[in-house]
Amino acid sequence: MTTIAFDVYGTLIDTSGVLDALGNLVGEKASAFSDIWRNKQLEYSFRRGLMQNYQPFSVCTHQALNYTCALLGINLGLAQKKELMDLYRVLPAFPDVPKGLAQLQHDGFRLFAFSNGEPEALEALLTHAGIRDLFQGVISVDPIRSFKPNPAVYNYFLRQIDSSENAVWLVSSNPFDVIGAIAAGINAAWIRRSQSAVFDPWGIEPTLTVSDLNQLSQKKLQEVELLKGRDDPDPACQ
Ligand code: LAC
Repeated sequence: MTTIAFDVYGTLIDTSGVLDALGNLVGEKASAFSDIWRNKQLEYSFRRGLMQNYQPFSVCTHQALNYTCALLGINLGLAQKKELMDLYRVLPAFPDVPKGLAQLQHDGFRLFAFSNGEPEALEALLTHAGIRDLFQGVISVDPIRSFKPNPAVYNYFLRQIDSSENAVWLVSSNPFDVIGAIAAGINAAWIRRSQSAVFDPWGIEPTLTVSDLNQLSQKKLQEVELLKGRDDPDPACQ
């Protein structure tokens, strides 16, 4: 049975769900604030991974919030920062997600959430978004004390679900996550919700690119696996 690992922030859950609250707090800078905050959060996770100086993802998020305020010269009080951090625990799912997940579950896939977030924050977030019950499990990188795209966290996922890489797909909107999974030998579908989204030109392509979760199906994934099998060099002929 094929397992699908779903990235959470930015893939299932819309991190720009803070925009309304930001609009009230910072006015017309809301969109820039949201983008800088998210990008800095990820940068801090990458840097902490490289430095082997782990702090939970919520710490990366909080420190990125402080950075964003300083960069944009916005003075938010403790209560306002807490309001934004609390909102991060109740962000909404993208509109295609509930139906897309339900269909994939119906197709017979084993569905897992797989994320940088801490276990407790992920449980709260997915429950609030009404999609927790569609997953067999929620796997956080936290016990590994590192972040995506460290190969160790993808291998940890495989060990946790007791599966080999060729029986697993990662589904993510984050190109660094797609490349990380493929580098670890796992098929990966890139969810490209916006035509303006750019994939990193590293010469490593997504196994499959679709515009939302409803474009994924058992038939589609099997077709891609078959085509890939045909393209892969036969070791016996080398
Ligand atoms: C996650 C980050 C990468 O959910 O968005 O793991």
